[in-house]
Amino acid sequence: MSTPLKITLAIVAVLLATFTIGVLSGKIWWFSEEPPLMVIPDMDDQFHLKPQGEAHFFADNRAQRDPVEGTLPRVGRTYPFAMGDVDSAEKYFAAGNPLPKTEYVLARGQNRFNTFCSPCHNYTGTGDGLIQKRGFGNQETMNLTRQQAREYSDAKIFHVISAGQNIMPAYADRIAEVDRWAIVHYVRLLQETPGTLPTLGGHAASAAAGSTNSKRMQ
Ligand code: HEC
Repeated sequence: MSTPLKITLAIVAVLLATFTIGVLSGKIWWFSEEPPLMVIPDMDDQFHLKPQGEAHFFADNRAQRDPVEGTLPRVGRTYPFAMGDVDSAEKYFAAGNPLPKTEYVLARGQNRFNTFCSPCHNYTGTGDGLIQKRGFGNQETMNLTRQQAREYSDAKIFHVISAGQNIMPAYADRIAEVDRWAIVHYVRLLQETPGTLPTLGGHAASAAAGSTNSKRMQ
């Protein structure tokens, strides 16, 4: 075998070996979305539980766990009031919504509302979301545009979002404080024109558009 041929073969062998090791180690990944074959396992592919899934490891069989007592969120602060402590919350947040009711804030509120609240309360806030229709809760108390809810203070609505109310779960550890206030502004807007979707920035907040409308802002 001539020397140039030997050199060419050596280069091809090195390239092939590099490619194979690259693929196996997961460093060359562009041709597949599948997790790489782990020769030396690292943390790319690991066992995890899905939030709404089952986990028999825990006594209540729920995969989603509450934050460990006494721990603090990395961003923001923990919500200080228990579900039933509406009076303290109303006193503490007596100043009302700290955010200005601008179009940007409303669009953010709409985006978060459509994501977190519409499954139960529907996009219009009328309480007949998909989950309610399938038997969760009763539409009357879930209707955010009913007279009683319209008379709630901003602080009370913020409190319900943060700490929950009866069977409604608390969202303080899932939605940032500033976003919860943006949602309060949006709930107010839904209450102004019950049963209709508000128009923001010239676009009607349709169920489909509403949830994608402000994706940029996430
Ligand atoms: C898992 C379903 C569910 C989700 C998601 C949910 N809620 Fe609720 N919500 C309820 C139920 C059920 C009630 C009625 C509780 C009761 O009977 O007092 C309720 C009640 C309320 C009330 C009080 C209404 C009243 O007239 O007393 C407000 C305000 C409220 N929700 C706002 C929100 C907002 C804002 C979000 C999104 C951040 C949200 N909820 C997400 C189920 C849900």
